[in-house]
Order: sequence, then C-alpha cells, then structure tokens
Amino acid sequence: MRPSDDELLALDRRHLWRPYTSSEDHESRPLFIVDRAEGPWLIGPGGRRILDASGSWWCNNLGHGHPRLRRALSRQAEQLMHVTFGGATHEPAVRLASELVAVAPRGLTRVFFSDNGSTSVEVALKIAFQYWQQNGRTERDLFLTLPGGYHGDTLGAMSVGAVDEFSAVFRPLLFEAARPDEPVEHDWEPVFDTLLARLRKEGDRIAGVVVEPIVQGAAGMRVYSPTLLTTLREEANRADTFLIADEVFTGFGRTGPMWASDHAGIAPDLLCTAKGLSGGVLPFAATLATERIYEGFRGGKERALMHGHTFFGNPLGAAVAREVLAIYREERILQQAEPKAAKLAEAIDDMAALPGVHHPRALGMCAAFDVGETGYMGKIGWEISDAALELGAHLRPLGNTIYVVPPLNIGDDDLDELLHIVRKATERVLGKDW
Ligand SMILES: Cc1ncc(COP(=O)(O)O)c(C=O)c1O
Repeated sequence: MRPSDDELLALDRRHLWRPYTSSEDHESRPLFIVDRAEGPWLIGPGGRRILDASGSWWCNNLGHGHPRLRRALSRQAEQLMHVTFGGATHEPAVRLASELVAVAPRGLTRVFFSDNGSTSVEVALKIAFQYWQQNGRTERDLFLTLPGGYHGDTLGAMSVGAVDEFSAVFRPLLFEAARPDEPVEHDWEPVFDTLLARLRKEGDRIAGVVVEPIVQGAAGMRVYSPTLLTTLREEANRADTFLIADEVFTGFGRTGPMWASDHAGIAPDLLCTAKGLSGGVLPFAATLATERIYEGFRGGKERALMHGHTFFGNPLGAAVAREVLAIYREERILQQAEPKAAKLAEAIDDMAALPGVHHPRALGMCAAFDVGETGYMGKIGWEISDAALELGAHLRPLGNTIYVVPPLNIGDDDLDELLHIVRKATERVLGKDW
C-alpha cells in the first residue's frame, strides 16, 4: 500500500537529497506529489492537476505519457531490455543511429551514445581532445567557450561551463578553458568580437569551440543572433578547429527548427543531444561526429576512443528515441508547434506592460522574461513560482528569470491556461492585480 501523503513527504525530507537545493530548503520548501502525468499535466493526490511549465527540466517535448512512447517502451521491454555493446549489437540502436544521422545537420555521420546531457558533452570534449593528441597537433589543448555557458555538472562539462553558481566551488578541480570576460546581459556583439579575436589569434591552440547554439539555457534563456553563430562557424573553419554544438536543450525543435544550429544554417563538427532525444522519458544521449573526426581514431587499438558507458545505446532508450523521431515525422511536431510558438511569443511580449518585467524573449517553444534585478540567486522568481503553484502551474525559475518551456504539442487551451497562470502569478507578486 502507498504511504499516506504526509508519510511520503516525511520520508522524502528524511532520506532524499535534492539537486541544487540547500538542506534547509529541502526540509522546508513546498513540494507537490506527482502520482501520474499526461500531456502537460502533472496529477497528484485527490486528482489535483498542475501544468508542467518547465517541461520536467526541459526534456518533456512530447508531453507526459505519450501513448506511442508507452507502447514502444513496453514492446521493447518484452523483447530485450539490455545487452552490452562491447562485441554485441541490436536493432534499436543501429536503426536509431542511422535515423539520427538522417535528421542531423549535414556531415554528422557517426553516433556515440551515452546517458545524459553532461556525458554527451564529456564525450565531445574527449573526442576533440584525443583527436588532436593522436593526429600530430598536441598543442591544441584548449577549449574556447562563451561566458554564461552551461553544459552539465560533470567535471569536464563544468570546465567549459561558466555559470559560477554551479561551478565556483569546484574550480580547483576543473581544467582551464578560455572565454571572453565581457559580462553578458543582452548585448552579444562585444562578446563574440572577443571570442572571434581569440580564435583568430590563437586558433592553433584551440581543440574546439563549445557553445549552446542561439539560446543559453541555464544562464537565463539568453538569446543571441544566428549571424553570430554563422560567423563563428566560418572562423572555426579558418582556424581548422572543431565547433561543438551543445544541443542538449535546444535540440528536437525546442527553438523552432529541429536544431538551433539550423537558425544559422550551419553544421557543427560535434553535436550533443539528450533531453528531448528520448522525449524526456529515459536517460539517453548521443554525441554526433563527422567522418573526418571518426577517421582520426583509425590505426590500431591504442588509437581507440577511450570512453564508454554500461548502458551505451541501451535498447529501451533507443527504441523510445526511434519512436520519438517517428512521432516528429508523422505528427508533424515542428510544423504543429509554429502557431503555438507565435501565441507564446505574443503572450510573453505582452508581459512587458507589467511594471517590473524586463526583456521578454521567445524563440520557438521557449520563452522567458526577467523580474527585478537579474541573477540566479534572485528571490522574486521563487515567489512567482510559489504563486504559480497555488494557481496550478509548476514554474522553476532561474533566479529572477521566469521561463516557459511547455511540450511542443501542448493543446491550445492548456497553453492559454498556462500563460494566464504565469501572468496572474507575476502580477500577484509584483503587486498589481488587474
Ligand atoms: C545545454 C545543456 N547542456 C547539458 C546539460 C546537462 O544535461 P543533463 O542534466 O542531462 O546532464 C543541460 C541541462 O540542463 C543543458 O541545458
């Protein structure tokens, strides 16, 4: 028998350790219990329904409990749940790799699987580094990145990330990466000027340039112009170094096209994908690479990529990811999302009329605005989140940045309701109820 709600919450507070949460907050902040979920709805005790505005940490692109994903998972579970990829292979992973290549930016023909967004970035970094080490360019040992980047919480991913709140305490453990010093608020030109100047000057030392294409998620949903990414691609070519696109958040149509790189009409040399790859259902990730890079690992055992995970390409994740791709094709997810994205952009734009709301921005099914002074430690965002929970939506702010990343296939009525709650909660906290 399931413990009572109170017992469950007491056990949670007694034994769990929440991500990004102090012990005090873990023991005191409100929590809601989720018993099941469907579409954008999280459903708790007594049938209470809450809209999931954070897409369950940005991965739930097709809504909760998509019937086709449920069926794909149980079909695969009946047949083969897991087998090592060392010396064996199976249909779901093989077919997924070829289907991923078919939708990837041009030239990305090789797929290396792992378990989550952070590992997909670790793999990209290790591939780039080892490539140069064993192909006569040992001096290429420095990664170049953007200020404000976030690439995950493992040590390599943190080294190329730059959100201090996540990584400052670990700095002694991290390797050095180069990045412009300019603080980024919303003016990206000077930042890219410095980045490109460094690439021109020191291109011979650069193992790879790592970026979140077009939208920096954890830094506060900060958006930069596609032309800046196009120029970066050109400069990386000129320096003959690798462009590594971390599409963990932006991939699978979150910003409109399949990949945020598509806004700039570019193809990276390495692309990291996770989150939406499995429709947010299972931990599953991939790093895609070009044939040139793959060829750099030919020539004997000692030149093999020294990386692997127990659950590499696991059949359950691969079968679900294949079904995700089929749903995108057959349910025309990207096309269907276009009018929803327009509605989202309009509603977020309208928020600018509220005193205290700054920088409304939207791209595809990703929208955000800032309240009060910006910053990850800001408190107003959390007050708005608490107000939204009372009104029926789960917002998870980035400090004083409020964002909405609903499923790409959210129903129009549900989207209207979600936007209404976001506005009401913001008005309530900023002190104006009209
Ligand atoms: C751009 C980006 N890269 C990497 C990650 C890390 O992914 P994961 O939490 O699956 O390790 C995230 C997570 O939010 C992300 O937004």
